[in-house]
Amino acid sequence: METEYELIDPENPDKKVLKKAAALLRQGEVVAFPTETVYGLGANALDGDGVKKIFLAKGRPGDNPLIVHVADIADLTPLVEEIPEKAYALMRKFWPGPLTIIFPKSDSVPKEVTAGLNTVAVRMPEHPVALALIKEAGVPIAAPSANISGRPSPTQGKHVLADLNGKVPLILDGGETKVGLESTVLDLTVNPPLILRPGGITLEEIIDTIGETGYDPGLKKDQTPRAPGMKYTHYSPEADVFIVEGSEDKIADKFMAAAKRLKEEGKKVAFLLSEETAHEIGEYREPCYIEVLGSRKNLSIVAHHLFSSLRHCDMHGADIILIEAFSDTGMGAAVMNRMRKAAGNQVIN
Ligand code: TXA
Ligand code: MG
Repeated sequence: METEYELIDPENPDKKVLKKAAALLRQGEVVAFPTETVYGLGANALDGDGVKKIFLAKGRPGDNPLIVHVADIADLTPLVEEIPEKAYALMRKFWPGPLTIIFPKSDSVPKEVTAGLNTVAVRMPEHPVALALIKEAGVPIAAPSANISGRPSPTQGKHVLADLNGKVPLILDGGETKVGLESTVLDLTVNPPLILRPGGITLEEIIDTIGETGYDPGLKKDQTPRAPGMKYTHYSPEADVFIVEGSEDKIADKFMAAAKRLKEEGKKVAFLLSEETAHEIGEYREPCYIEVLGSRKNLSIVAHHLFSSLRHCDMHGADIILIEAFSDTGMGAAVMNRMRKAAGNQVIN
């Protein structure tokens, strides 16, 4: 299949390009598009056969359900059995934005979208291209991240092209995504509500809005998560990833000792570091590649860089990526969740 690649200005999305993308979606085709979190690979959420093409293009396991994207709260009503009070409070505060809510599903959502579950995940993305595309198509759009299953999620159009060229008819490139990692997935069908995947909206922000909320105990190592997707290997670059843990005064030495040892084994090593550790390490030249993720004091910036930095290490031919552990609170919960998955829980400490 020939893949068309269209640049689209997020400030002022070209109507002609939107119309072309919307027509493909209505014909049962898939289209990759930007959201504020990561790029999505969309299909008409009401068309089971169209949705199947998403699974095919990504090589996604069939038991992993998709998120349905809407452009208006009114679009939610036909998709769900009921909208709990807490959902209204959350939608008022965080939609459009990186919060996905799980509802009991209605009969109009095909089983291909929910992988046979009786619940459906819905969010309203905060991106002018995504919102305009949903409106132009006139249907809700089911979309997972637009990467080959298992790879880091795409935060730029060219990442989508690298993964899906020849597999999808159209990619809309609307520039770099703002958040850089995926939405928070919140299950409101249980009491208290549970975060099934940490993401762009923090636990603290959700508790502020609806009170008691927890993390799915299945997010911990060696337990079965409630979000089917969380059990799979994820976000993996070609290189082998290790998380480096340690106190602020020892961490730079740990990186340098590990790099020296790995270099002796003939491995090409890349470092992904906090600004603070990069400063300590200074002109150390052993690694084939060093990238700064951001300051320990600004985890939103770290989140913004994480996936693209993992891809950069691959481009520099790294065999091993050593990545610095950050604090686990606030946005750090999502950052560390993605990092642990990318590393398959391999830690140096
Ligand atoms: O930010 C995002 O959420 C991006 C953009 C494109 O919107 N999308 C995204 O989709 O990350 P995906 O498919 O990569 O991740 C969806 C996650 C998976 O872990 C899946 O198992 C879970 O949400 N999920 C979807 N529907 C569910 C349901 N009914 N019950 C439990 N988990 C569900
Ligand atoms: Mg994904």
